[in-house]
Amino acid sequence: MFTEKKFKSTLNLYQKRIEEGIEQLVPPAETPPSRLHRAMRYSLGAGGKRLRPVLLMATRDLFTPEEDPVPAAVALECVHTYSLVHDDLPGMDDSSLRRGKPTCHVQFDEATAILAGDALLTYAFELIGRYYRHTPALGTSLIQDLSIASGSRRLIGGQMDDLLGEKTNYTSEQLKNIHLNKTAALITAAMTMGARIGHAPERDIQTLVQIGKCVGLTFQIIDDILDATSDDETLGKPTGSDLACGKATYIDFFGLDGARSQARAHTEKAKGLCQDLPGDTAFLMELIALMEHRIQ
Ligand code: IPE
Ligand code: IPE
Ligand code: MG
Ligand code: MG
Ligand code: MG
Repeated sequence: MFTEKKFKSTLNLYQKRIEEGIEQLVPPAETPPSRLHRAMRYSLGAGGKRLRPVLLMATRDLFTPEEDPVPAAVALECVHTYSLVHDDLPGMDDSSLRRGKPTCHVQFDEATAILAGDALLTYAFELIGRYYRHTPALGTSLIQDLSIASGSRRLIGGQMDDLLGEKTNYTSEQLKNIHLNKTAALITAAMTMGARIGHAPERDIQTLVQIGKCVGLTFQIIDDILDATSDDETLGKPTGSDLACGKATYIDFFGLDGARSQARAHTEKAKGLCQDLPGDTAFLMELIALMEHRIQ
């Protein structure tokens, strides 16, 4: 078990390594065309919780600490940030606040936000190619995990169905599938990529796939609950937007308490599965608990 203080300081250490990694590995703002690189860095900048890259690094730490997880963690954060920049565009969720700041298309303009998103996505694969070229089998499997999770059958497909949902009456099972695709896929990739960097055996990777599904479902259920119950300042993004856009959420199907108890059940299942993993899983289990109890 971790005390709260020990958990927070370990989390801060991981977050610090990620912030430094972003600073060092992403092209400087003055790189031409500087408007594009400024926009990429603006959206990547402070305010993100960095939960996916922390998950990647903490999972790696259960296994062999031979390869550097930071380039992969930064690549993952680039993909996640691109998905947010595009998610906020007027043609998608039309959101003006992200990570406590004006969204990329508000701060710059729509075309710059589209291009910054494209560039962040592409740069993720450049980073992995460059930093894992001395271990080509590892590099290829990282690219596989990240490209599949962020591709048309998972994250982007989930985003498509999420948008179509504004005009469709989904069943709760269909909504669960959207959550699995738009959110759980990338969270699962965080864990499998971390495991691959630690040279984990396939059996453990399969356990992590199951854990990622549960954590991802909890994460999106809580995101929807916070959208309905929090305020813009605490969250750093607009609240009440799911209702305003007519998005289907777990709250529509199960009510607030029902949605909360489903998040609870997924978290418990994920923590139970952690018992099957090797190494010291105390931090990982606390991190999984944080996904459920977070207020941001
Ligand atoms: C928001 O993700 C998008 C969802 C999948 C719900 P986060 O809540 O992790 O956003 P940041 O990275 O902390 O800004
Ligand atoms: C988006 O879900 C998930 C992504 C893949 C970006 P939301 O649209 O609910 O995310 P927020 O609430 O804007 O962060
Ligand atoms: Mg959305
Ligand atoms: Mg959104
Ligand atoms: Mg949301």
